Amino acid sequence: MSIQVSDGVFRLDTAESSYWFRTTAFGHLEQLHYGTRLPAGEIESLRHKHELTHGSAVLYDEQADPSYCLEELPLEWSGVGKGDFRVTPIELKLPDGSFTCDFVYDSYRIETGAPKMHTLPQSTGEGAETLIVTLRDKAFAVYLDLLYTVYAEENVIARRAVLRNESEGTLLIKKLMSYSIDLPDRGYTVVTLSGGWIREAQVIERPLKTGAIVNESTSFSQHRNNPALALVSRGATEDTGLVYGFNLVYGGNHQTAAELSPVGLVRITGGINPYCFLWELQPGEVFETPEAVLTVSTRGKNGMSQNFHRFVQKRIVRGDWQTKERPILINNWEANFFQFRQNSLLRLAKRGKRLGCELFVLDDGWFGARNTDSAGLGDYTVNRKKLPEGLEGLGKKVNALGMQFGLWFEPENVNDDSDLYRAHPDWAIVRPNRKPSLGRHQKMLNLTLPAVRDYIVENMTHILDTCPIAYVKWDMNRKVSDFEDGAFLHRYMIGYYEVLTRIFGPRPQILLEGCASGGGRFDLGHLCFAQQIWSSDDTDPIERLKIQGGLSLFYPVSTMGAHVSMAPHQQTLRNTPLFTRFAVAAFGAFGLELDPMDLKPIERKVLTALLSEYRTIRRTCQFGTFSRVETGDPHIVQWQAQTGKQTVVMRCKTLVPAAQPNDLLTVTGLDPDKTYTLRQVKSPLLVGGFGTLLKHILPVKLRAYSHLLLAADKRLKMDDYAESYRASGAQLGTGVRLHRSFIGTGYSDKMHMQGDFSAMLFVITED
Ligand code: GLA
Repeated sequence: MSIQVSDGVFRLDTAESSYWFRTTAFGHLEQLHYGTRLPAGEIESLRHKHELTHGSAVLYDEQADPSYCLEELPLEWSGVGKGDFRVTPIELKLPDGSFTCDFVYDSYRIETGAPKMHTLPQSTGEGAETLIVTLRDKAFAVYLDLLYTVYAEENVIARRAVLRNESEGTLLIKKLMSYSIDLPDRGYTVVTLSGGWIREAQVIERPLKTGAIVNESTSFSQHRNNPALALVSRGATEDTGLVYGFNLVYGGNHQTAAELSPVGLVRITGGINPYCFLWELQPGEVFETPEAVLTVSTRGKNGMSQNFHRFVQKRIVRGDWQTKERPILINNWEANFFQFRQNSLLRLAKRGKRLGCELFVLDDGWFGARNTDSAGLGDYTVNRKKLPEGLEGLGKKVNALGMQFGLWFEPENVNDDSDLYRAHPDWAIVRPNRKPSLGRHQKMLNLTLPAVRDYIVENMTHILDTCPIAYVKWDMNRKVSDFEDGAFLHRYMIGYYEVLTRIFGPRPQILLEGCASGGGRFDLGHLCFAQQIWSSDDTDPIERLKIQGGLSLFYPVSTMGAHVSMAPHQQTLRNTPLFTRFAVAAFGAFGLELDPMDLKPIERKVLTALLSEYRTIRRTCQFGTFSRVETGDPHIVQWQAQTGKQTVVMRCKTLVPAAQPNDLLTVTGLDPDKTYTLRQVKSPLLVGGFGTLLKHILPVKLRAYSHLLLAADKRLKMDDYAESYRASGAQLGTGVRLHRSFIGTGYSDKMHMQGDFSAMLFVITED
C-alpha cells in the first residue's frame, strides 16, 4: 500500500521516497517530510517545533495558540491574509469581495488509479493510488481538493488542485496553482532549462538565496523557459546527493516559483501562470488545474532524471509507439525548403532508403499556395503542381520503396493570404480595435471556437484516413499576441487538447512528432499525444550537446527528435565531423535532415555503415537507462545508456587543449564482478580534413589543395584507432586508459586523431 492515513498523518510512499504530511490543530496541512524513503514510525522528529515565534509574526489565533504562525510553518497549501507572506498558491476574490482566504482540512478519501480530468491531459494512472484531501475555506462553501497520485515504482507523486464553488456567489480566480510544498533549506541551486530559438534548453543554475526565483512563460511552454525545474541540494552531483524535480503536464502559460523565506523554508509552487489570468467560477462550477509531477532522488541529478525518464515513458507517452524504437527518418525540409516536385521527393526518399532510412517525411509546402512562408497556411488542398498524384500517390510510391510516409502540418495558424482566411477572417485571434501583430507572417486560429476545432479535425483526419500516413509532424511557428487574457489562453489549451484527442486518440498507430519553431513546445502535456518532439531547429551537434543534455534532465532520449544535417551548419557555420553529428543524434529519435547527394561518396558509405550499426544499439540509446557521466572537464561531454547486456557510451570533445592528456573513459553502472567486452565504433577520418598533416603518414608530399588530394577526399578514408578490451565491470568503472590522441609529434596507427568537435562511441557488452 502506497498511501497510509492514521491520526491525521498522511504517509505516501514510493519505492525510494516518502512524502508525509499531517493536519495541524487548526486544520492546516503541515509538510513533514519529502525525501528518502522512511520506515513507518513516529513523526515527532519530523514535526516543526514552534514554542516561540519571531518578533514580527502575525499569529493565526493568539488566544488558542500564541506560537502558531503560518509564515513559520512548512505547509502543503496556503492562503491569503492570515499571516503567511510567502508566494501563495491561490489568489481568489471571494463573494465578500476580499482575497483573504483560509483553507482548512475537511475530509479525505483514497481512490485507485488517477481520477479522470475533464479538460486537460494527465498521466495514465493504472495501478496507482490517489489520495484526495479536501480543504474548505473557513468563511465560504468553497472547497479545494488536493490530489496526490502515488506512482510507487516510478518514484513520482502527481499533484493537482480542484476548486469547487459551492457558495452562493461568483468567485474570481486570479491564481490557482497545481501544488505548493515547503521544504527545509538545504542550500539549493535552482536548475531550469531556459534559452531561445535554436538554443533551447540551456541549463541555468541559480543559487536560491532569500527571495524567489520564478520560472515562467507567457506564451505557452515556449523556447524561453521550459516548465521543468530541479532543486539540487548543496554538494549533490550527477550521481550523489538529494535532488528534487518538478514538472507540469501542461503546455500553456506556466509558472513555477522557488522561494527561500527568511525563516529557512523553501516553498515551491507550480501551475498555470497567473499572468493576465482572470477566471469566473459561478456557483456549482469546478476549476481543475494541470497535473504537476514531483520526484526526489538521493542518487543525484541522474537519479532524478532516471525517475522522470521511466515515468514519462510509462505514464505520459502513449499509443502504439510508446515503447517502440523510433524509425530512422529522412526529412526533406533542409534539403528542399519549399522547392520540390513529386519526382524530386521520390529521388530524395530513394537516396535515404539506400542509406538505411525507414521513414520519409514531407515537410512544409505541400498544400495551397505554400511556396513561401507568407501564403497558404490554413489550407489543406494539395498543391497538384508539385504533387500531381496527390499525397495518396506520393505516399504509395514511398511505401513501394519500402519506407513509411510522414507528413508535416501546422494546424493552429493561418496566413492572411489563404483561402481559409479569406473565408473566415473571424477565426483568427485578433482584437477588433487593434492592428494585429503577426509572427512568421501568420495569425493564430482561435481554438476556443468549436467551428475552428471541427475544421482542423475534419481536414486532418480526412488526409490521415485516405493517405498512407504513418507519422505526423505537428508544427506551431509563432508565439501568442492579441489575446484577451490568460483565461482565454487556458481555454485555447483546452481546445487544443480536445483537437489532439479527437485526431490521435482513435489513431494510436500514428507516430506524432511535436514541433514549435524547433523545441518551443517541449512539455509533458504535448508528450501525452506526441511520442517525440523536435528538440531544436539547431542540429549542430555541439549545440545539441547542450540542448539534448539539458532536456535529458527531465525528458527521456526517446522523446527528443535529433537529426544529422550538413556541415558547415546552417545556423552556426560550425564545421563538425559526420561521425560526431551521428553520435550525438544517436541519443535521440534519430533522422537525417539533408540531401545525401550533398555528401561526399565516402560519407554516404560511412553513413550507411553507421545507420546499420545504429540499428544494433538504437533500443539502448533511446530506451536504456540514461546517465550524464561527469568527466571533470567542461569540454568533454559523456553520455551513456544501458539496457539488458548492452551499454552505449558517447564521449565528445568540444575543445581540445594542446598536448592533450590521455583520456580516461569511465563506464558507470556495470556489475563489478561481471566481464564485459568494450568495442569502439570505427570512426572515419576523411583525408581532406588533414591538409598538409598528411606528410606525417604519406611517403610523398601532397599539396593541401591539390586535385589529387581533393579527389582522394571524396572517396578515401582512414579509420581512427578503435579501442577494444575485455575487462570486469569494476575495471571499466574505475576508468579505461585510452590510447593517446594526436599531440603534434608524429603519427602511430594506435593513436586517435581527435580534435575539436570529435566524438567517440563505445559499445559495451556483458558476457
Ligand atoms: C519550423 C520547423 C522546421 C520546419 C519549418 C517548416 O521552423 O521547426 O523543422 O518544419 O518550420 O516551415
